[in-house]
Amino acid sequence: MASTLEKITSLAKRRGFIYPGSEIYGGLAGTWDYGPLGVFLKENIKYEWWRHMLREDHIYALDGAILMNSKVWEASGHVEQFSDPLVDCKKCKKRFRVDHLPRRTALRDLKDGPSACPECGGELTEARPFQMMFKTHAGPVEDSSSVVYLRPETAQAIFVNFKNVMDSFHPNLPFGIAQVGKAFRNEITPQHFLFRAREFEQMELEYFGRPDHADQYFDDICKMRMDWFLSLGIKKKNIRFRKHDKDELAHYAKQATDIEYRYGISEDGFSELEGIANRTDFDLKTHSEHSREDLQYFDEEKKERFYPYVIEPSLGLDRAFLAFLMDGYEEDKLGGERRVVLKLHPKLAPIKVAVFPLVANKKDIIEKAREVYRAFSRLVEGMRFRVMWDDIGNIGKRYRRQDEIGTPWCVTIDYQTLEDDTVTIRDRDTGKQERHNISSLDKYILEMLK
Ligand code: GAP
Repeated sequence: MASTLEKITSLAKRRGFIYPGSEIYGGLAGTWDYGPLGVFLKENIKYEWWRHMLREDHIYALDGAILMNSKVWEASGHVEQFSDPLVDCKKCKKRFRVDHLPRRTALRDLKDGPSACPECGGELTEARPFQMMFKTHAGPVEDSSSVVYLRPETAQAIFVNFKNVMDSFHPNLPFGIAQVGKAFRNEITPQHFLFRAREFEQMELEYFGRPDHADQYFDDICKMRMDWFLSLGIKKKNIRFRKHDKDELAHYAKQATDIEYRYGISEDGFSELEGIANRTDFDLKTHSEHSREDLQYFDEEKKERFYPYVIEPSLGLDRAFLAFLMDGYEEDKLGGERRVVLKLHPKLAPIKVAVFPLVANKKDIIEKAREVYRAFSRLVEGMRFRVMWDDIGNIGKRYRRQDEIGTPWCVTIDYQTLEDDTVTIRDRDTGKQERHNISSLDKYILEMLK
């Protein structure tokens, strides 16, 4: 039987959420194109994230350049960190630095490097010097002086603009800088649909505070981030925290906890959705040393100069997108018929309302339905309140189509509408229909959205 991930992958393509990148040329592994509905769902997730981050006025927004001076990545440790020869285990997917592996005695192994995974005995990929960052050149000359990298995380743009934001706004600690943007990693094994891609988006907050308050901020941010997922409908049983052991911490982190989602791709089903780390003063210190710019904070009251600590919640937008799709996916029975339904939170649903004329050949009904459709379309400008028109096939089929893409409400204009200006509103999750007056429709829907 197909797994939920396989069903979602197929539904996403069929219904215009996600297409494989460069598909007509055979594709490009680890790249995905967002289709018409995918764009709206992604925008809605982004909007909710920004809304959540910016609800306090000490959080500042940033949109840094993807291409940065390569000294940024030398200072951050990324150039050195990812340039060792690496091998991946094809079975358990663990990645090893070759020089950390125990040497084998077999002649072949001594010559070519170890061939078996020390953890599970699985086959290892060939060893190669592996730089996870994509490299390119800025300008017409392709030599070592023109090398630039595609950023593997958005965070560094925040650290290198720390002083700029302080100089522009003079914030007191604690304060945060938030950013959403593309990141690129030359993953050896891109896999599991959007889960591990080579091009993806991150939504990151760097929250700067006094070192002695960092543990408290870390705990508060963990709670706040979990609450965000739950408030947008992720089921409690499918999401959890996992604290990192000391030996798995990134070079910059003192403490880290992942929020994991049950994607069903690992042994116990759970894998990383969002990482939350206490990055200490590592980044500001290292950029100060390398750039010779003083990135310390000056506390006017205490007349103290110091490097703030940083708490970073870092969420992969595409992983969130996948989690919301998987969590909403259900196969149930409604009115004795089997159906596939995406029970997306209405705030995230790409289409909020579908408008149907009951029949496609009755002029009065079509005109009235068009009127309702136009009124809804004008309700909220922009991407966040999309309305869809559908007059193809029987009404049952139209409901099924909307269920499959997660539309919370379907409005049908029928014969009775011509007499009393009422329409039916059908609820996606229950299938229940209620009659409402056209004049109160927008109020009703906006109220439900709240
Ligand atoms: N700034 C910290 C940082 O980048 P990370 O754990 O390497 O930390 C943060 O990445 C988040 O980015 C992950 O929790 C995941 O959601 C997302 N992410 C990382 N690599 C990814 C990939 N290859 N494809 C999709 N999302 C990815």
